[in-house]
Amino acid sequence: MSLQQNHVTDLWPTKFYNRHLPEFEEPTRLLIKLVREMDKTHRNLTTDYRDNNLLNLDHPGANWLRQQVNQSVIDYFQSVGIDYAVNWQIHAWANINRRGDYHDAHNHPRSYLSGTYYLKIPRSRKTSGQRPDLRPGHITFYDPRPGINMNSINKDPYVDPEHTVLPNPGDLLMWPAFLNHFVHPNLSDETRISISFNIILKWSDHYLPSQ
Ligand SMILES: [Fe+2]
Repeated sequence: MSLQQNHVTDLWPTKFYNRHLPEFEEPTRLLIKLVREMDKTHRNLTTDYRDNNLLNLDHPGANWLRQQVNQSVIDYFQSVGIDYAVNWQIHAWANINRRGDYHDAHNHPRSYLSGTYYLKIPRSRKTSGQRPDLRPGHITFYDPRPGINMNSINKDPYVDPEHTVLPNPGDLLMWPAFLNHFVHPNLSDETRISISFNIILKWSDHYLPSQ
């Protein structure tokens, strides 16, 4: 590859996608009802993630979310410059976090992209005596290059090893499945409800880069 003169190149960026879904209120209300029904017949929806793929259901909320997830994947591929046909399947599962529930740092092996759609997020108030840096209900993503921040200085692109957000109901986040993330504890008596998903590619040889 020839060099451009006087140019700064972004090498190995990590793509992170977020979208606030339009007219989310009614389908999200239906999905909350569906997740609560499913919760009655599962030991735990998050740990039983292999057998509660609610996006396989023919349900008005699930049909809406499946369409939104598919559109987000199309947007993502366009934004990174993938301009050829890609086939995928969605594996989704629901999460209900009650007081004290959290999900320690992890990634999603054997998936291409991962994401979460947020249905309900409690607004916790900090109580006196607790650490001021608690971020209940937030999600943190970590720079996939551990230690890259150790010599960084203010405003260079490596200074913050984490990206932390408090999602709103109606937000859909999506990221490369290798990215480690941590779901902070819910410190509210209200439930925090979301639907997570993996995008699993159906393999074709034309995905391979030309040599
Ligand atoms: Fe996750």
